[in-house]
Amino acid sequence: MTLSTGSRTKERILVVDDEQNARVALRQILGEEGFEIAEAADGEEALALLPGFAPAAVLADVRMPRMDGITLLKRAREQGSDAVFVMMTAFASVEAAVEAMRAGAENYLVKPLDVNAVLVVLDKALEKLRLQRDTQNLRERVRERFRFHSIVGDAPELQAVFDVVKRAAPTKATVLILGESGTGKELVAQALHEESPRAEKPFIKVNCAALSETLLESELFGHEKGAFTGAIGLKEGRFELADGGTLFLDEIGDIPPSLQIKLLRVLQQKEFERVGGTKTIKVDVRLLAATNRDLADLVKTGRFREDLYYRLNVVAVTLPPLRSRKGDVPSLVSHFIDLYSKAYGKEIKGLAPGTLNALLSHDWPGNVRELENVVERAVVLCKSTELTAEDLPPSLRGPRPRERAPGALIPGATLYEIEREAILRTLEMVGGSTSRAAEILGISVRKIQYRLKEYAAGAPEPGGDRGDGDAGLDGDEPDGR
Ligand SMILES: Nc1ncnc2c1ncn2[C@@H]1O[C@H](COP(=O)(O)OP(=O)(O)OP(=O)(O)O)[C@@H](O)[C@H]1O
Ligand SMILES: [Mg+2]
Repeated sequence: MTLSTGSRTKERILVVDDEQNARVALRQILGEEGFEIAEAADGEEALALLPGFAPAAVLADVRMPRMDGITLLKRAREQGSDAVFVMMTAFASVEAAVEAMRAGAENYLVKPLDVNAVLVVLDKALEKLRLQRDTQNLRERVRERFRFHSIVGDAPELQAVFDVVKRAAPTKATVLILGESGTGKELVAQALHEESPRAEKPFIKVNCAALSETLLESELFGHEKGAFTGAIGLKEGRFELADGGTLFLDEIGDIPPSLQIKLLRVLQQKEFERVGGTKTIKVDVRLLAATNRDLADLVKTGRFREDLYYRLNVVAVTLPPLRSRKGDVPSLVSHFIDLYSKAYGKEIKGLAPGTLNALLSHDWPGNVRELENVVERAVVLCKSTELTAEDLPPSLRGPRPRERAPGALIPGATLYEIEREAILRTLEMVGGSTSRAAEILGISVRKIQYRLKEYAAGAPEPGGDRGDGDAGLDGDEPDGR
């Protein structure tokens, strides 16, 4: 981050005011500070200058003929300018300044201007812009770092899964993927294929729970013409289609006993016959299997063959349920916001304060799939650029979140509450990356993960430590009076 005064020597400021005297004075003050200045006499003139001059900051009067400062701000945003806006207003129209802040201005100055106030406010605004731009870049980099294929999450339990996947992928070993519904088993199967030397070959999937016994058999092994009523022509099975590639048997726990035997034979001898056929067919297939059922228990109760179980269970990975890794909720939410705001053509930047808390408090019985649906729904319903608690299903909203600026917490809140606000806000700012938030806050990732679990569990705050209100918020923001 560059905070040195040297970096601002080339920063551009656009001064917009209908009073020529004011423009001349500002040009002089800012010019001496090494800024590059352009002037405009009203909003329209300023708007025309924006694309070419591309200022970092705009100092704009609120009341101007033709186009006022607030309209200028709105138009500039529509044009895609990310310049910070500082509004200038006569004492009598402070209300207009408040309106400007609502419209997205960073700050405002009351006329007659005080030289020091101009420089302080401008410096702060520019610093904020740098941070925003840095965060944007970081977000993009962080996203790349924490994505294993399209699987999002940096909880240790999930990293352990990625580790096994990376080691097993290059081999031909059968991998059994376990975990509750919606935990990402299919994504893991895909990652195993894509990381393998077979990546360019077919990846064929069969859902063993979706078909009747007879259909499943001919789906897997194919059938000869006339093998059974309805078998009009010859049909190649999925094993043949997957030759050279990977076959993913989803919901393997639901495969009927008669097919369990046949499957075992293919696994052992790597050959089979089509239904109604006599010719032996040899294939080179890498097998992956997944189930959300307790396969070991099915073996115990005699519903799943033990020998097949051991054949499948060469390498096993178990995906952790979302409730045990709530530290991943922020980055998953951010991932799905990206995904669905693109899909629905909406510009959504993130979560409004308090929303993350509601998402953390939920237990997610449907795991990531449920979270994905909740975010998709919220993106569809969202009326602003941030998802709010109102966009969540009623069951998730819980008690009304406290919507207070961090400054408003102090004094009067406990240190624990302040820390919680700091952690949640920072996570919201960095797109949910716990490691980036840890870096900013100067604490460990483990502490953040631990705290998120605590907030998620609604754990009572430990101890009775009260904040003493000196936690470093500078009070030099104009208060409008
Ligand atoms: N870690 C993750 N990162 C991003 N998306 C995920 C993650 N885990 C799951 N998803 C998404 O959640 C949805 C459900 O995942 P998937 O289909 O892999 O679950 P599953 O474990 O196969 O569930 P089921 O047992 O119900 O078939 C998919 O849309 C998937 O893309
Ligand atoms: Mg699945």
